[in-house]
Amino acid sequence: MYRTHTCGELRLENQGNDTTLAGWVQRKRELGGMTFVDLRDRYGITQLVFDENSSPEITEKLKKLGREFVIQASGTVRERSSKNKNIPTGEIEIDVKELKVLSPSAVPPFTIEDESDGGDDIRMKYRYLDLRRNPVRENLVLRSKMGHAIRSYLNDQEFIETETPVLIKSTPEGARDFVVPSRMNPGEFYALPQSPQVFKQLLMVAGFDRYYQIVKCFRDEDLRADRQPEFTQIDCEMAFVEQDDILSTFEGLTKYLFRTVKNVEIEDFPRMPYSEAMENYGSDKPDTRFEMLIKNISDVVKGKGFKVFDDAEFVGGICAEGCADFTRKQLDELTNWVKRPQIGAKGLVYVKCNEDGTFKSSVDKFYSQEDLKEWVEAFGAKVGDLLLVLSGDKSDMLDAIGELRLEMGNRLGLRDKNTFKPLWVVDFPLLEWDEDSNRFHAMHHPFTSPKPEDLELLETDPGKVRANAYDLVINGVEIGGGSVRIFNSELQSRMFDLLGFTKEEAESQFGFLMSAFKYGAPPHAGIAFGFDRLVSLFAGLDSIRDTIAFPKNNSGRDVMIDSPSTIADAQLEELNLKLDLKEE
Ligand code: AMO
Repeated sequence: MYRTHTCGELRLENQGNDTTLAGWVQRKRELGGMTFVDLRDRYGITQLVFDENSSPEITEKLKKLGREFVIQASGTVRERSSKNKNIPTGEIEIDVKELKVLSPSAVPPFTIEDESDGGDDIRMKYRYLDLRRNPVRENLVLRSKMGHAIRSYLNDQEFIETETPVLIKSTPEGARDFVVPSRMNPGEFYALPQSPQVFKQLLMVAGFDRYYQIVKCFRDEDLRADRQPEFTQIDCEMAFVEQDDILSTFEGLTKYLFRTVKNVEIEDFPRMPYSEAMENYGSDKPDTRFEMLIKNISDVVKGKGFKVFDDAEFVGGICAEGCADFTRKQLDELTNWVKRPQIGAKGLVYVKCNEDGTFKSSVDKFYSQEDLKEWVEAFGAKVGDLLLVLSGDKSDMLDAIGELRLEMGNRLGLRDKNTFKPLWVVDFPLLEWDEDSNRFHAMHHPFTSPKPEDLELLETDPGKVRANAYDLVINGVEIGGGSVRIFNSELQSRMFDLLGFTKEEAESQFGFLMSAFKYGAPPHAGIAFGFDRLVSLFAGLDSIRDTIAFPKNNSGRDVMIDSPSTIADAQLEELNLKLDLKEE
């Protein structure tokens, strides 16, 4: 037996017990002839003590013992004279009689402590060492706990967990596919699923009624803090349901997770139409932890001779409460911030609501105190507030002001990680216009059902058609998204038409689905949560990377195993991928 207890287990009541522990050496200290070793495993840290009367054999081993050696130690539990109140095992120590080195360790490239001295790159290269650190491991323990709770909730609701294939054909989810060459079918490729979308719909046709899967998805897209090329979805689908049924089932799941995992009770989730989210928050994933809503003041500001505003499609902004004392320097810095290419504003106009009831703006030349009073009233601002106003193309400015709002929220400490504000964003447009390809794209995916009341616009004004699609947004993060599906092959064909698929393309890519719909497809709808994002939210992390045991870096590389990598010529040849340079 390697151990009788873990390193997090022994307490004062175990005093006098014999014990054998195994783990990693966190630290070794010598003090007045005694040697103290902090022994660590996943469960905690226990102090081992070797006194000066230890056998020469043990003394010899102790001398060589370094950080991260794996050892086994046997001895007796005793009360510590100087107790450590910070750890649960801090009242005891082990008076060691036997010591065995199970595995030596090279000097680790960084300290394996809660606060490590290792930079990002080195910790990623030695991820297995990074995972020994409590804060990193705790995220994965939380992930495991959440996975368990999700399964338990969904199993209780009669969902069937079903695996779907990973080597498939391209699914049109909007990102690029990762492809895998087929050796047995020269010149042909599988695609890795961007989601199991079509399979879960086929499971509904198959009568499974309720499906779920915690499943890896793959998308070859540019990476950000909340994106990984391979990530995990909690993917779900239900038959004989409408939008409300999905929202209430998955609102239930979300509340259940908050309650059981975080001990937080959440009120019913508000529902906000997409158009309202865009107008008020400049985003389809509004952070509703704070107000600071966007106001359109185009009507108030035009016609006073300020050309920039007069010529702009849209003038609007936000009111930053209590910020009238911003200095010149702060305002200049904020102006530069909005002018960065990522935000894309041409400039920033401000109005300060001074303590004496007057207003000070950056456009005093064009606007009188009375004019500015109208602005202030439009914003509902009060003494001490600061108006920040941008102008330009409407949709660009809504985006930009949305970003500015989040930035001000950060600066003013309004985005507390321990406050959780979920909401459903509903009534998304069915289609979005793509300038590059000069045609409509499905905003969600081509299987999303238009709202029945908008069906007649499908051919006349497709951009206006709303979808039965919804997103779950929490604290400004899109946690999940889904839709009511089309379940009729005729409407599905119309959609493919609209999206610019020829009959042949639609048939070759989705013939199987349209054909399935001919054999009795039930009405169905579903949703997928980004599991990594949900864990990251629960853990209070800024990036989903640390919710994943072995993540990729921002260039999509795994620096530990060094992938992607080239492959041998023989392998390329076998896969029919070898370029014949002579022929070229
Ligand atoms: P969607 O594309 O909205 O919907 O994806 C669902 C959720 O998956 C998460 N997500 C990601 N997480 C990490 N890295 C990524 N690269 C990434 N991309 C997406 C997000 C997102 O809300 N098949 C549909 C669902 C459906 O209609 O049922 C789908 O995949 O949290």
